[in-house]
Amino acid sequence: MKDNNPERVLITGGNGNLGRLVADRLLADGQRVVKFDIPGTEPINLHENETVICGDIRDTDLLKSILTEHRPNTIYHLASLLSGSSEADLTIAWEINATASFKLLNLSVEMGVDKFFFASTAASYAEVDTNPMPLDYPQWPESMYGATKVAVERLGVYFKAKHGLDFRCLRFPLVVSPFAPEGAVSAFPSHAFKAAILGNPFRFPVARSIGISTLFLDDVIDSIINYTATNALNLSRHVYNLHAYYLTAEMVADAVRKRFPDFEYSYEPVEVVESLISSWPDVVDDDDARHDWGWQPNFDLEKSADKICELLLNIENKTA
Ligand SMILES: NC(=O)c1ccc[n+]([C@@H]2O[C@H](COP(=O)([O-])OP(=O)(O)OC[C@H]3O[C@@H](n4cnc5c(N)ncnc54)[C@H](O)[C@@H]3O)[C@@H](O)[C@H]2O)c1
Repeated sequence: MKDNNPERVLITGGNGNLGRLVADRLLADGQRVVKFDIPGTEPINLHENETVICGDIRDTDLLKSILTEHRPNTIYHLASLLSGSSEADLTIAWEINATASFKLLNLSVEMGVDKFFFASTAASYAEVDTNPMPLDYPQWPESMYGATKVAVERLGVYFKAKHGLDFRCLRFPLVVSPFAPEGAVSAFPSHAFKAAILGNPFRFPVARSIGISTLFLDDVIDSIINYTATNALNLSRHVYNLHAYYLTAEMVADAVRKRFPDFEYSYEPVEVVESLISSWPDVVDDDDARHDWGWQPNFDLEKSADKICELLLNIENKTA
């Protein structure tokens, strides 16, 4: 059945850190994947079931023509400006993260898309004063990025209630990844490992004690795949929080030093980064995700550190 009638998916932000790995997993599962992303991000090699289309997520006519031609059953909406880039240009952040998402939700209903996965963020919270933070903790973000993500979470629930779109959403905390994008203020732990591998000194943009809830990349990809595949009847929530471990700048420095004893670093807090990171949750109650669809992280800090070093070294060896 799978060969004759494969699932068709559209991944916006499909050439990004998470998008291309989600695509790899879906392609390996026999699905047909259309990746949409900005020009200049195209991969060199394409899988036979993979199509890459470049453009701007704000181009509604282009998106409509893609949905008309490729008829995806499921959309993974990952295209976004991240925390740092959103703060740098509020107008563009709203256009890309909020307005374009609204238009894509609208188009999804018009074009008969079944399922819509949206990547939200722990940055949709601020000044969390309980540990672990409960799932229903109020979302009053103090960043533009968080504000746009809350807006889309609410819109998704509206489209689900009003139009029956199967809207699903996960809120990711900090993600440790060898591909951590520059535009995220939460990318510094990943960049610290990279600096150590390159033999460069590193400046942590927060004080040593500042920390945040964290996941490793592989757990994020697993969560997107497993959650989206879960029978809707098992899901008691529109949106789930995920947590694997709490990570401070000092814990990152220690983990890097353990593997690279000559690693040189300093703590030089950057106000905008530190105020955002310190306002996001440290430990998150993710019991509902564990119960409803079997969420279970495989990576703690030690495993994450080993794996990111292995992946970064592979990347360095290939580019050397
Ligand atoms: N990695 C994390 O730490 C993290 C944490 C929480 C949430 N998220 C969310 O997960 C999703 C994927 O994040 P990521 O880590 O892969 O980041 P990423 O920056 O690698 O991916 C986002 C992609 O969106 C694309 N994009 C940006 N503007 C666009 C536009 N105007 N038109 C089309 N494409 C555009 C970018 O080119 C990029 O490939 C995002 O929605 C992000 O907000 C990520």
